[in-house]
Amino acid sequence: MLIDTHCHLTDAKIVDVKKTINEAHNAGVEMMFLQSTSIEDSRRAVAIAEQEGLYATVGVHPEDIDNVGNVEEMIAELEKIVGGSKRVIGIGEIGLDFYWDKEKKTKEKQIQIFSAQMELAVRLKLPVVIHMREAEEECFEILTKMGTLPRGEFHCFAGSEKFLKFVLKMGFYVGFAGNVTFKSAAGLREILHKVPLNRLLIETDSPYLAPEPVRGTVNIPANVKIVATAIAKELALDTQKIEEQTGKNALCLYSLDIL
Ligand code: NI
Repeated sequence: MLIDTHCHLTDAKIVDVKKTINEAHNAGVEMMFLQSTSIEDSRRAVAIAEQEGLYATVGVHPEDIDNVGNVEEMIAELEKIVGGSKRVIGIGEIGLDFYWDKEKKTKEKQIQIFSAQMELAVRLKLPVVIHMREAEEECFEILTKMGTLPRGEFHCFAGSEKFLKFVLKMGFYVGFAGNVTFKSAAGLREILHKVPLNRLLIETDSPYLAPEPVRGTVNIPANVKIVATAIAKELALDTQKIEEQTGKNALCLYSLDIL
């Protein structure tokens, strides 16, 4: 089953949401998991996800922490949104990102907001979608300190081989997006070979990271087919096998196989 496990259909770059969903269905995409980056965005994603084949995750992204005043209020809001819809399947996307903050001025706030959402996921028994960029050490520390970890995935994996081993050991799944097709991504493709097939997820991260050969365009969930094909080629497997296995993995992680 072809599933785009990570797309941002609330993004302004997606001009016609209905058309984008139809295009995905026409391309054989059976499910889409809509990600959120803020409280407001979570409400919008959940509203769009109120139809067959669509699900949403709710959460505050590390690049959207400026608008968070009180963390407890943020958690209460998220919990309210989760309780208000059956389409919510996880907490995401959340995480740490020091790519845009090399001096780590936001470190404390990022860690506070990420940790609170991780704890919320444990409490609500929901899987997490983690975004981690240039924050391996901090992420490592938080995850090792937590008594109970939620289930979840590292989406659009951007870590080292050492970090990959750690997250696999912790039971996480690992998502790959369109950037795995980029000419410059030889290192990422090497990492891909080290992910067990039963932990692999595929995604578009649309509207970002459009894969080759449509790189530079507004990315859409229909392009997850290109990602599946590219990953299959890299691993010398049939595209159908990749679609089946990654689909199975996604259904299992988000408990959609028992619905
Ligand atoms: Ni994303």
